[in-house]
Amino acid sequence: MKLPDTEHRIHELIDKINYYNHQYYQNSSSEIPDFEFDKLLEELGELEQLHPELKRGDSPTQRVGGTITKAFPTVYHRFPMLSLSNTYSEEDIREFDKRVRKAIGDDFEYICELKFDGISLSLTYENGLLKAGVTRGDGVRGDDITPNVKTIKSIPLKVLDNHQDSIPVPALFEVRGEGFLPLDVFEQINKEREDIGEALLANPRNAASGTFKMQDSGVVAKRKLDCYIYSFLSEDFPFDTHEASLFQMKRWGFNVSPSWCKCTNIEEVMAYIHKWDTERYDLPLATDGIVIKVNRFDQQQELGFTAKSPRWAIAYKYQAQIASTVLKSVSYQVGRTGAVTPVANLAPVSLAGTTVKRATLHNANEIARLGLHLGDTVFIEKGGEIIPKVTRVDLTKRDPSSQPIAYPTHCPVCDTVLVRKEGEAAYYCPDEKGCPPQLKAKMEHYIQRKAMNIESLGEGKIELLFDKGLVRMPDQLYDLTYEKLYGLEKVILDEETGKSRKVSFKEKTVENILTAIEKSKEVPFRHVLFALGIRYVGATVAERLAAYFRNIDNLMAANFEALIAVPEIGGRIAQSVLDFFMDADNQAFILRLRQAGLQFTTNDEPIVVESERLSGKSFVVSGVFAHFERDELKQKIEANGGRVLSGISGKLDYLLAGENMGPSKREKALQLGVQIITEQEFVSMISDQLTINGSSPK
Ligand code: IVH
Repeated sequence: MKLPDTEHRIHELIDKINYYNHQYYQNSSSEIPDFEFDKLLEELGELEQLHPELKRGDSPTQRVGGTITKAFPTVYHRFPMLSLSNTYSEEDIREFDKRVRKAIGDDFEYICELKFDGISLSLTYENGLLKAGVTRGDGVRGDDITPNVKTIKSIPLKVLDNHQDSIPVPALFEVRGEGFLPLDVFEQINKEREDIGEALLANPRNAASGTFKMQDSGVVAKRKLDCYIYSFLSEDFPFDTHEASLFQMKRWGFNVSPSWCKCTNIEEVMAYIHKWDTERYDLPLATDGIVIKVNRFDQQQELGFTAKSPRWAIAYKYQAQIASTVLKSVSYQVGRTGAVTPVANLAPVSLAGTTVKRATLHNANEIARLGLHLGDTVFIEKGGEIIPKVTRVDLTKRDPSSQPIAYPTHCPVCDTVLVRKEGEAAYYCPDEKGCPPQLKAKMEHYIQRKAMNIESLGEGKIELLFDKGLVRMPDQLYDLTYEKLYGLEKVILDEETGKSRKVSFKEKTVENILTAIEKSKEVPFRHVLFALGIRYVGATVAERLAAYFRNIDNLMAANFEALIAVPEIGGRIAQSVLDFFMDADNQAFILRLRQAGLQFTTNDEPIVVESERLSGKSFVVSGVFAHFERDELKQKIEANGGRVLSGISGKLDYLLAGENMGPSKREKALQLGVQIITEQEFVSMISDQLTINGSSPK
């Protein structure tokens, strides 16, 4: 393709993809099949790789992240980010209404919105393009987290300008909104963390806040953050009312939650408050109240601000949902890592639209803090979190003869003495090789889609195989035959629902399971490594280790230093990997999996890692070289942690120049301030001792 054609195609692809993204993420409309969409994105990525100079600021390829930011720069807000005065009392809301009425008379309206519980963000747009995404910080200055903000698919990188609008896009403006982690993503993350023995994230808000501050935007992109926009700010202010700004922001492509409502009097505001008191639990994110704003901007100006907050708005916060009920018993669940979690079994009670029968008690410290007795009347609460928790005991209702809860000293299932590791709140059952719930959970971990993908062996079936003594460890899956499986059955009681169901192995089920087991022999090494269930080795860490060490032998031979030399692998993970491979049973287990024919080597072209000296540096290689082929040099760059690019742009670090390199490349590099280096200089970058033709480079 000629350059102008490429440029045209890039523009066309960007506009198309941005349009489909907008339709998908904000209008819930999928106008093309996923694979066609992926093809467009792939084509764009390839063209941009070939012509980085043509990459546009609003290219959707930025959404996948990839930027590493060591420290986020602190920047001043153009307009300070104030907070709202808030109250839990309806009476205060009526008082607020009276104050407003006194100041501006009776001719006004309110806009009511939900108060989203995430972190506030300020987004700056210049000439229609997203230039910066900044956190609230102290209200005056915040962190510039632009690369992370760009991963949010519902935030337009370029404002949708359909020209028929009566309002032109102001050259410079800001929108404010709430960044959040959708509840289902939050639950998913916690499930994964529990699976690898990581401490759970306390609530979606903390999880969102932590995610926005992550240094690797590639990891942020995987977390699927979202953002609702609720304010518009500009020197060049084109709206008369807040309502008009909400409509227009929606047209410009911003994700404005449709939950807002115009109210003409305080009774309508109260009705809005009551409506959302329960309906907010059906939303995909946490909310903690509502925000009431005077609609007209001239009236907002008239009302003005106090030192901290506007006089034209107030937040009504919902009380945390509380109920009281009786603690019937405490059960103790043992997870894959042996951690014991106490769970309160309660007399069923209705709370925020659901019937609650169980609540988490977290750990032994929490039981001690509450001073729980069996039969106590307890208060349970549903806050930002989804799982209800016991907050306190109603001592007025305690039976004086009741007994305090005695935390078990032995595993409730296998009776091994529990241990507590220094600095950790949880007790553990140390019998990781014999304790049935731990073994079953390890099997469940092994079969999951992200691991060996044998999901036809659902939970109940694992239990059945376990109880019949057929499979206690994953390697025994590979000894199963049709004859061993066919006809097995068992009635299983679901503790959660109290219902029982029959699990049985019929012809089709057995075939599906055996096929999936056979297919698991093709599963790539990185998934096998994750499936082994090494503590703290989640799917991403396993991928990094597999890419770096290439096969299990290299990994098993690696010492602590070698392990922490892998990007993103810290001491805690390294130690856990060492402990795992040191164990003779684990070594035998791996041997058996090897004999079964599983993949223990990474299959794609190996990059022999030599060093990380070029980490974070990008190179373009051009011309003919005296001692290396061009491809050899490229391979060296990658082997030493660098990246090879195909085109020169301002972001490029080095142009590695050989003989006969075209003059235009040199000129462009000089213009953009890219450093031009020789073969000799390159060699000295990757080695202290390496010599070319016997002469030692400086
Ligand atoms: S308007 C002058 N609208 O609540 C402040 N804020 O205490 C104008 N929030 O920091 C903010 N949902 O993070 C506004 N619909 C909404 C909101 C909202 C959540 C947060 C926001 C702000 C805090 C105010």
